[in-house]
Amino acid sequence: MTAPCTFDATGLVAAGIGDAGASEADLDALAAAAAAAVDTTAARRAAGDIGFLDLPDDRATARACLDYARALPPEVDTMVVLGIGGSSLGPRALYSALARPLDPLRPRAPGLPRRLLFPDNVDPATMAALLEVCHPERTVWNVVTKSGGTAETAAQLLVVDEWLTRHLGAERARRLIVATTDPHKGALRKTAEARGWQTFAVPPSVGGRFSVLTPVGLLPAAVAGLDVSGLLDGARAMRDRAFGPGAVTEAARDVRRNPALALAALLHWHHAVKGRPIVVMMSYVDALYDTADWFRQLWAESLGKEKATDGRVVETGPTPVAARGATDQHSQLQLYAEGPRDKVVVFLGARERGVEVTIPAGALASSQPDYAYLAGRGMGELLDAELRGTMASLLGRRRAVGHLELGRVDAEGVGALLMLLELATAYAGPLYGVDPYDQPGVEEAKRLTFAALGRDGYADLARAPVRDPRYVL
Ligand code: PA5
Repeated sequence: MTAPCTFDATGLVAAGIGDAGASEADLDALAAAAAAAVDTTAARRAAGDIGFLDLPDDRATARACLDYARALPPEVDTMVVLGIGGSSLGPRALYSALARPLDPLRPRAPGLPRRLLFPDNVDPATMAALLEVCHPERTVWNVVTKSGGTAETAAQLLVVDEWLTRHLGAERARRLIVATTDPHKGALRKTAEARGWQTFAVPPSVGGRFSVLTPVGLLPAAVAGLDVSGLLDGARAMRDRAFGPGAVTEAARDVRRNPALALAALLHWHHAVKGRPIVVMMSYVDALYDTADWFRQLWAESLGKEKATDGRVVETGPTPVAARGATDQHSQLQLYAEGPRDKVVVFLGARERGVEVTIPAGALASSQPDYAYLAGRGMGELLDAELRGTMASLLGRRRAVGHLELGRVDAEGVGALLMLLELATAYAGPLYGVDPYDQPGVEEAKRLTFAALGRDGYADLARAPVRDPRYVL
């Protein structure tokens, strides 16, 4: 049986890139800190601080999401997810990875699967267009905010609620809004209860960027007809392998056996020892590009911190970048191959694509000798050859390269990949000496937004960027 998700670290160690990578002695030297990072994660889980490791076992919540999806009126063909950051990137990654490609453009039949839309931002042009293309009677609106108070999501909700009520009246509008938020507190929880909207809870111990396997991700996934159980199965199998089913296993503490720990420890080593803070996740599967984008938030917000856990000012953190193969071979690769050695490129691929488009060996190919090499080959074969060729070229230049590979782009594989990346982030936190679960910089920006709009209680914070007319050209 093919493993749902593997991590090949050869291009990060001496076996692949000589002295540009970690030697066996380097791995021996970092093993204790890596094992301690797993223990720290286990201690925080035991203290009830972090809930993401328990989500794969919560099948009751998954069933509730599936029940909701099945009970929607058959004429509802669209769900719009109103949210931002972790409240949008996770469900969008699932939808891109597991729904049919170009799903939003396909004609709809009654019932499942429904299309999903993610406005994500508050650009008025997008919002106005969304209200033009969404049919009021055929669209359900999932407002998602863990804190309940994020300005962008509140603005989206207020616009949609007024639009829906104007079109359908308060009672019918009520049935087409579903809220995902904290179980007890926050503005959205209060509003949802007052208005009688159906609600789903985000466990308080699960932060926004770790929430993809809560109803934040599972509810839209169920509405889109995705394999929610498979997703949790894949995540659980990876959790058991890279952490442990209950207590931490010895294999999980071993940097040479645990893929999530190896990824965290080697990315940290390349940053700390070799001066490579940039992590490019380059997906050679279009469906996984949004997973790379989700990872960009996970890695950046979790590890980019001013202060270490002991209070020292460290201003540390890696810079994640999402890239697409083969597209970015014609845009970014020149820099990755020959520019500063400040990056690690993590390739994302799949052993089986499940679909192939054969390039015809017909009249056009045979009329032009320059096309002959493509005739009869598959487009997936071409893309895989480009992945291997690019990786070989970077390795030949002793550039740091990792390879995450799914057996298939299916629910188990994606669940395993998401859990691997969440665990790698959890382990990277202690290695960087920071708390991977807080986000003071994001919270400050939220407060400054409130202040800029004159919200009561925030006036003292209001400030505009410095602007010197001499430099405005
Ligand atoms: O990871 C985080 O905590 C943030 O990026 C949040 O996901 C984002 O700010 C949205 O927050 P909320 O879900 O509270 O609206």
